[in-house]
Amino acid sequence: MSGALLNFASWLENTRLALAIADSSWAYPYVQLTHFVGLSLWVGTNVAVDLSLIGVGKGWQTPSEVSEALIVWNWIGFAIAVAGGLMLFAASATTYVINPAFLVKLGVLIPLAFVCHVVIQGKVHGWCQKPNLSPLAKLIGLTELVLWLAVITAAVLIPFVA
Ligand code: HEM
Repeated sequence: MSGALLNFASWLENTRLALAIADSSWAYPYVQLTHFVGLSLWVGTNVAVDLSLIGVGKGWQTPSEVSEALIVWNWIGFAIAVAGGLMLFAASATTYVINPAFLVKLGVLIPLAFVCHVVIQGKVHGWCQKPNLSPLAKLIGLTELVLWLAVITAAVLIPFVA
């Protein structure tokens, strides 16, 4: 573990906000709730588009229509999830930066899933111009779905791999 990262984590953990969250008996659960509300919106809206790409709900709405209808809630969810996640992280930063599940979640899985998401959001309209979705479009939808499930799995494992 790099010294600079540990120094940063130690500084963050001693900021007023981090100490207030860590020392209060009620603040931590509310910060957790914030993270969970945000990620429910974010992951929920992503999953809706991914399932639509895979073919669920075919005939009701195209994946492009689903994506367009949900895009504002999608990014609101992301902003809330990241704000909550950063506050949870700050409260015990020195523990998290040496936790393998946290490092895999934040350093590998979230960036991969995020790139996949941005590709889908950028391309879904073009994909839906053709009469049938290409197998590649379906594969990218399935990949995003699996990656967010992997993010959630890594997150749930954080307390168990300390
Ligand atoms: C946007 C995608 C994200 C998803 C889907 C996600 C998912 C989750 C889930 C499901 C948990 C609950 C684990 C449990 O209590 O069983 C969790 C906890 C947590 N998340 Fe996230 N998260 C995301 C982003 C972030 C970010 C960006 C950060 C920090 C920079 C972060 C930091 C944390 C921390 C510190 C915990 C508490 C871990 C613990 O001690 O139990 N998350 N996350």
